[in-house]
Amino acid sequence: MRTYVITGGTDGMGKGLGLHFLERGDRVIAVASGKPKGRAFLAEAEALGAGERAVFLRADLSTVAGMRRVVEEVTATTEAVDGLVFGAQRFRPVREETADGLEFTFALSYLSRVVIGEGLMERLERADAPVIMSLAGSGGLPGQIFWDDLQLREGYKGMRASMQSSRCLDLLGAGFPIRHPGARTRYVLYNPGFVNTGMADPLRQPMRSLTKVLARFFAMPVSKAIVPIARLLDHPPEAAATAFMRGKPLPLTGSAFAPAAADRLHRVTADLLAGLPATR
Ligand SMILES: NC(=O)c1ccc[n+]([C@@H]2O[C@H](COP(=O)([O-])OP(=O)(O)OC[C@H]3O[C@@H](n4cnc5c(N)ncnc54)[C@H](OP(=O)(O)O)[C@@H]3O)[C@@H](O)[C@H]2O)c1
Repeated sequence: MRTYVITGGTDGMGKGLGLHFLERGDRVIAVASGKPKGRAFLAEAEALGAGERAVFLRADLSTVAGMRRVVEEVTATTEAVDGLVFGAQRFRPVREETADGLEFTFALSYLSRVVIGEGLMERLERADAPVIMSLAGSGGLPGQIFWDDLQLREGYKGMRASMQSSRCLDLLGAGFPIRHPGARTRYVLYNPGFVNTGMADPLRQPMRSLTKVLARFFAMPVSKAIVPIARLLDHPPEAAATAFMRGKPLPLTGSAFAPAAADRLHRVTADLLAGLPATR
């Protein structure tokens, strides 16, 4: 029986993957912030006869305390982690600051993957063929990192924050083999394309309705989108870090994956985390 930890495991692709793994007999720890979706996930697991192998771990992953709690809880309850899937997301049209004084999207989309990914490395390395699967925007819309204003205090736009996080996630994945030379864990960046999920719910009107209509006609259903993702989790690539767009490999070349930028982001992030109180 394998164990999967899935952030954003109570909705969209995270939930789809979680139920898929539960159905075939694995154990799933779904992490998310809201009780109603957590309860619904557990009810669906129960209906599959997998109630005993399903865990809902409630944590607000926009806070460093929530990220650290996930590491602590999983470490305390799990011998080895076979798959760590990052799928927690929430679009913010207006700039919001977290309890740590960080911009919300930066904290939830990017920093949670740093803290949980690094914090669970020891448990991942115990598994037979461990994988970190980062659902991301690799190879998609361009975006940039605002190195002088990572917290986007000036000129915030929801899309700007999302795109900056996408670029940070690419660099986080590309830098994995440098941070962990010789690790058995494989790091996969995966852009699923347009998938029909709850993604549009936080958008403002009329964008919300428009995106939902477009999704109904043009987006892939979750059941189809998760097939290549589950396959990569079952059969990890040979290379330590890889990127895919809808199942097609992307070369880890160019500025999106530049090692010098990955190193720069790693150093900036380490400084930022070191400046936060350990107990928060
Ligand atoms: N859908 C697409 O078209 C698309 C395209 C490219 C990439 N992606 C990426 O694929 C991943 C999954 O996307 P999706 O569309 O399947 O997601 P989704 O349906 O929007 O679900 C998001 C999940 O994140 C959780 N979440 C939100 N805020 C949270 C918080 N503060 N703390 C912890 N969990 C939180 C939600 O539960 P709660 O609200 O209860 O916390 C939910 O379980 C994301 O990383 C996304 O960027 C998606």
